[in-house]
Amino acid sequence: MKGSKSSTDQTVVLAYSGGLDTSVCVKWLAERGWRVIAFMADVGQGDNFAPLVKRAKGAGAVDVIVKDLKEEFVKDYVWPALKAHAIYEGEYLLATALSRPIIAKHLVDVAHKTGARAVGHGCTGKGNDQVRFEVTARIFDPSLRILAPVREWEFRSREDEIEYAKEHKIPVDVTKKSPYSIDQNLWGTSIEAGVMEDPWTEPPADTYRSIVPPEKAPDKAQYVTIDFERGVPVKVDGKAYASVALIQKVHAIGAVHGIGRTDMIESRVVGIKSREVYEAPAGAILFAAHAELERLVLDRKLLQVKAELANTYADLVYSGLWFTPLKRALDAFIESTQRRMTGSVRLKLFKGKVLVVGRKSPNGLYKEKLATYSAKDQFNQSHSEGFIKLYGLSYEGSGAKAR
Ligand code: ARG
Repeated sequence: MKGSKSSTDQTVVLAYSGGLDTSVCVKWLAERGWRVIAFMADVGQGDNFAPLVKRAKGAGAVDVIVKDLKEEFVKDYVWPALKAHAIYEGEYLLATALSRPIIAKHLVDVAHKTGARAVGHGCTGKGNDQVRFEVTARIFDPSLRILAPVREWEFRSREDEIEYAKEHKIPVDVTKKSPYSIDQNLWGTSIEAGVMEDPWTEPPADTYRSIVPPEKAPDKAQYVTIDFERGVPVKVDGKAYASVALIQKVHAIGAVHGIGRTDMIESRVVGIKSREVYEAPAGAILFAAHAELERLVLDRKLLQVKAELANTYADLVYSGLWFTPLKRALDAFIESTQRRMTGSVRLKLFKGKVLVVGRKSPNGLYKEKLATYSAKDQFNQSHSEGFIKLYGLSYEGSGAKAR
């Protein structure tokens, strides 16, 4: 990797989390002649950045750049995914997957601003994150070199890495080590590995990272009302919040009631199945509310087509294809469905469950005078007879032949 290059040619911008892997990456790259600029994206992982900046420098980074991306993350990534109902394999709200394209985009930005000709990440060769980072980086600049030390270095275990960190006086805090691999942001937490690698083993209590276990939740239910404007949540219990604060507020409410946890086997892009545990309390509540408001406001055919596209959308997010023409085209469709999506949904939270208990909208298609079974009924039932005859006309008598 060395040679007679100019200094920017030898500069790499590394996506740095502050954990053991990326800290060792800094040193490992520095030892191979790279000037390492550590890039930290704040996507609401709740870290205290000051000690992590120190750690990166201690590991040999020539510079550390921290960017607060929380608001951009919510507005440009989380809200579109919410509007699209992007849920992977029926369970995963895609918190980690949504954070990768924004981090990769800014990684490339930093490379351009600093003149660096390479970007790097600390992902293993077995996961989806490497795919998301690299595909996104190449979408923005295919001329950048991509370095993935963890895929090629000599360390076989965490212990090897800790040994190397000690040898090189990298200030990592190994006492705080968790037996799990955890990725966290504003939208949710991904927890994997450790004893959970046996898919039959129930995740232990210490895998609860951001919510209480449902059995420890209060015995009393809590009600919460979410107001939407054009598909975007804007108020909680009648009080307006900006995007980031709104998610934090809903997260806090849901966490107390043990909302939003899933334990699933998942199909990775690279062909393996993995066992994953996710927590996304705000996501679980906002998805339930948004989906119910759609059922009130959107017509039957639109709901059906939108639901079909939700799967495609989730798959694009999961697979690292965020910045692609299909994803942009789907966003345009979804955006056009959200114009009338203004209204309120009332939910009841109780021991890990979210129940919708009320909904209203100035654009609702529900008409009590048509739906009622009381004397107020204005639905003309005599029209139904002819409707049904024509509706089933082309199938009449065909049952006998099919048998
Ligand atoms: N399997 C999930 C995904 O691909 C979560 C990955 C979490 N990463 C981690 N370092 N724990 O989106």
